[in-house]
Amino acid sequence: MVFHSALRRFNRTTSFVLTSAFLCLTLQLVSTAQTAPVAKPKPAAAAAADRLWQNKALSPKQRADLLIKAMTLNEKILMMHGGGPCPEVWTEKCQMPIKGYVGQVPAIERLGIPHLTLADGRAGVGNKAVDVTLLPAPIVAASSWDVNLLNQFGHVLGKEEWDKGTNVTLSPTIDVVRVPEWGRIFESYGEDPYFNARMAVAEIRGIQAEGSIADANMYLTMQQESDRFHVDSVVDERTLQEIYLPPYAAAVQEGHVGTFMCAYVKTNGVYSCENAHLLQDLLRNQLKFDGWVMSDWGATHSTVDAANNGLDQQMPDADFFGAPLKKAVENGKVTMATIDGHVRNILVPMFHQGLFDRQQPGNWDSKVRTDAHTAFSRKVAEQGTILLKNKGTILPLAGNTSVAVIGEAGSTKPKAEGGGSSEVVAPYVISPFDGISKRTKGKVTSDNGADLDKAAAAARAADVAVVFVRTEETEGDDRPDLKLPNNQDALISAVAAANKKTIVVLDTGGPVLMPWIDQVAGVLEAWYSGQEDGNAIAAILYGDVNPGAKLPLTIPRTANKVPTASKEQWPGVGGHSQYTEKLNVGYRWYDATNTDPLFPFGFGLSYTTFKLSNLAVTPAKLTPGAAIAKVTVDVTNTGKRTGAEVVQVYVGHPTANGEPPHQLRAFAKIELKPGELKPVTLTLDQRSFSIFDTSVNRWTVKPGTYEIYAGVSSRNLPLKSQATVEKSGASK
Ligand code: BGC
Repeated sequence: MVFHSALRRFNRTTSFVLTSAFLCLTLQLVSTAQTAPVAKPKPAAAAAADRLWQNKALSPKQRADLLIKAMTLNEKILMMHGGGPCPEVWTEKCQMPIKGYVGQVPAIERLGIPHLTLADGRAGVGNKAVDVTLLPAPIVAASSWDVNLLNQFGHVLGKEEWDKGTNVTLSPTIDVVRVPEWGRIFESYGEDPYFNARMAVAEIRGIQAEGSIADANMYLTMQQESDRFHVDSVVDERTLQEIYLPPYAAAVQEGHVGTFMCAYVKTNGVYSCENAHLLQDLLRNQLKFDGWVMSDWGATHSTVDAANNGLDQQMPDADFFGAPLKKAVENGKVTMATIDGHVRNILVPMFHQGLFDRQQPGNWDSKVRTDAHTAFSRKVAEQGTILLKNKGTILPLAGNTSVAVIGEAGSTKPKAEGGGSSEVVAPYVISPFDGISKRTKGKVTSDNGADLDKAAAAARAADVAVVFVRTEETEGDDRPDLKLPNNQDALISAVAAANKKTIVVLDTGGPVLMPWIDQVAGVLEAWYSGQEDGNAIAAILYGDVNPGAKLPLTIPRTANKVPTASKEQWPGVGGHSQYTEKLNVGYRWYDATNTDPLFPFGFGLSYTTFKLSNLAVTPAKLTPGAAIAKVTVDVTNTGKRTGAEVVQVYVGHPTANGEPPHQLRAFAKIELKPGELKPVTLTLDQRSFSIFDTSVNRWTVKPGTYEIYAGVSSRNLPLKSQATVEKSGASK
């Protein structure tokens, strides 16, 4: 472990060194260029009448092809990397990076090609932008299991990015969570490929509807931060196809995402940004992606291999795709057709999103946050906070209860967001203490939890103790283990021993172990809930909002009973992470190995109760070409409050070829008044009855009897039915 944490620190340091190196290089190039412009003949500006690519009646591809015909090699190469450097640019009026954006491609005014302005933003506009909204982390939004909320999340984020002048939004992170210690879980959606696919499509559509191009990342097998610049994910093709590719497939086919960011890691020995299997076989040939792939910041490792194997654009600089790429074209190692292909991939989404056809109003200094976005930030936090335990219905609290708010995260240091490139400058953060104090008529005290005796005394003096605990999760670092750091387990036990009415609020980015679970009356997973943290948690604690969120990942019971428990799997040995759990990622592993999680995938309580009944699957007999089934379930609110339930449908495959016991294939969230019954209809598509058959290298519908389960978590599936497929056939 000592070795592992040293390694992680080293990686983090390397990351900063690399970033600073980019910066220095860019600055050097800026100054060289400004003092010694390169005198080159300047191609004439294209007259308006000659700009045939400006004809909006043509398709994006037709427009891109016309434009490529007018571009010089220098101009093409300019589009294929970030920032500069200036001396290569065709004009002496060197367009240097403008303020703010973390990645930029200068405009080519001669041809009317707009500047590309790239900004981070998983939970709001990043890169130190000010006057923006800090939304809850994407894991919070995903915990709502509400695709409409994810779509609005995309709209709010996309609108603020667009109004800041960003035309490429570096979001969302759609990778499947494999390792529970992964430092970027909070940026992503969860552990199920189907679930992540639904969330990705919804968010991408929202972002792109507001103007900018969305960039889904990080492609592919980016499942850990440990040794992230070099580690090799060793993964078999079926697992790649069935677990890690689906969110990307949906992002292309349904989300029409404009760009992907290739990851730092290697897949099966080859860096992502020069991996022909990932970039060509899968993205282009299989998924028919027609947008562009940019490298993650510093993830390009070569010129010729990267260009020939499918990387379209190096970010954020030009080390490989600037002068060396031009040279590679001149000496025939990269063909002009290859260059044209890359430039086309970049131009098509630009035309598609209308970047050539309209002026973008704002810039980095624009004030973009609004009251509506503040309200939305709060709504996401409310909708994404999961009620995990509620013994004796301790919650919701009565309005006059006296409350001791314990722990730094409850008062002086609210934990509203995770660390790394997704960081947002929050305009403010409402602490839980302030949120609760505003909401209640009861007495509210606070204690930072530093001294256990004092914390216990504060808890004893109040009707109810609410302990806020947190993890410090960040890009660049995995957590060393799943324990709450800094003695917080002991704090919870001390408080719980002093007051039976203890509620724990987890401000964590990923799952944590809960050795004190039997000692406390209530547990809420609030994650990193954004600027409205305290208002949202108060609304849940006092029942102004009835919790309806569900876990998008499993919470393990013990440290060693997790899917990636061996060192070979995580963080890897000798530079390789072995994906030996294969398809058994997340709940699939717990089910396949009969391991009890502490809280299963899909689980979450409400202040009301629900009952599911009358599961029907039609037709029950399917043919491969029409392997689509309708599933109906009746849902009744059997409690006394309006609330929302998530109906989850899982499919168990018949072939016993290593398939997990059951896999999520459909879900729907539904709100019901007390006593109300509503039928819910869901669709199982062809993929629900397919596996990736490596013997024919394609998705295939397999014959046999499929078990169809309906319920409210991966471990609570009271209803069961079947569908049969008579013979094998190709699947989409
Ligand atoms: C991250 C990306 C991010 C980029 C630019 C990288 O370290 O992995 O997600 O977009 O930095 O900030």
